[in-house]
Amino acid sequence: MKTRITELFGIKHPIIQGGMHFVGLAEMAAAVSNAGGLGMITGLTQRTPMALAQEIARCRGMTDKPFGVNLTFLPSVTPPDYPAYVKAIIDSGVKAVETAGNNPQKWLPAMKEAGIKVIHKCTSVRHALKAEAIGCDAISVDGFECGGHPGEDDVPNFILLPRAAEELKIPFVASGGIANGRQLAAALALGAEGINMGTRFIATKEAPVHENVKQAIVSASELDTRLIMRPLRNTERVLHNSAVDRLLAKEKALGPNLKFEDIVAEVGGVYPRIMQDGDMEAGAWSCGMVVGLIHDIPTCHQLIETIMADAETIMRERLMGFLGDQSVRA
Ligand SMILES: Cc1cc2nc3c(=O)[nH]c(=O)nc-3n(C[C@H](O)[C@H](O)[C@H](O)COP(=O)(O)O)c2cc1C
Repeated sequence: MKTRITELFGIKHPIIQGGMHFVGLAEMAAAVSNAGGLGMITGLTQRTPMALAQEIARCRGMTDKPFGVNLTFLPSVTPPDYPAYVKAIIDSGVKAVETAGNNPQKWLPAMKEAGIKVIHKCTSVRHALKAEAIGCDAISVDGFECGGHPGEDDVPNFILLPRAAEELKIPFVASGGIANGRQLAAALALGAEGINMGTRFIATKEAPVHENVKQAIVSASELDTRLIMRPLRNTERVLHNSAVDRLLAKEKALGPNLKFEDIVAEVGGVYPRIMQDGDMEAGAWSCGMVVGLIHDIPTCHQLIETIMADAETIMRERLMGFLGDQSVRA
């Protein structure tokens, strides 16, 4: 399949793996890229810019296909050394970057000069238009269904994607809630030129996370995610567990007085305990409603091949079948 996204990133299939804290390591990115998609190393999971450079080199040892790096701009009192992270990415020769969390304008000139294609993740059309105006090459349109931070507008992809199609000139991928070929075909129909998946890629053989995490995803239904941190205007969709119940009880009790310090036990530094140790009650971790559509743990190759084959069959047989032999206007 050829779209503006496959052309932009030089990949076989229009499927991107979004950055994921403590999931987007070299193994994950290489497996997706080797399967013909675009894998992403999650920049800030690496504690220093030097460690990121090493992780990129490790990934290069596992794949000769293009892969990218996610750089998330977080609201933070003591921000990471972003200039050094950007330099590490540029010096490594990586040609795709997924930015997220905040306006990436400051970093664009250096990345563009290095020939890097930037895809910016947005949860609203106004932010997507801003990203287009400042020179981003593509947008990842993240609907309300998504795992992680869906923003504060709560617009699901059935509205957000066709709205993006109405307004954007640069290509965009549909992100949030996607796990299968039926949805790839739908995303293309809604105006996207590909898909970005997070949660679905965690439940794959190669995802470098504890087996408990994969089993939790397979066991969960579409009713099992919760929204946390809404009072802080930093909403995150996470999988329901006892830590999330504790956190939501605090949100309810403290109301508008809630501060980040009140919930730090449930959200601060919990990712290694969950993703590496498999302690599924250790805290809140990003997870999408799409868990309801995830029933197996395939390899990335099996997953991507199945998605592509199913999408193609749906387009050729199901959709074309509705038209019969007649022309559209007959
Ligand atoms: C466990 C997990 C961690 C994530 N961490 C990040 C991150 O560090 N930076 C980022 O931009 N997006 C992050 N995301 C969001 C994904 O890149 C992607 O946009 C999202 O998962 C898409 O929704 P889906 O899970 O329904 O496919 C994370 C998602 C998950 C599930």
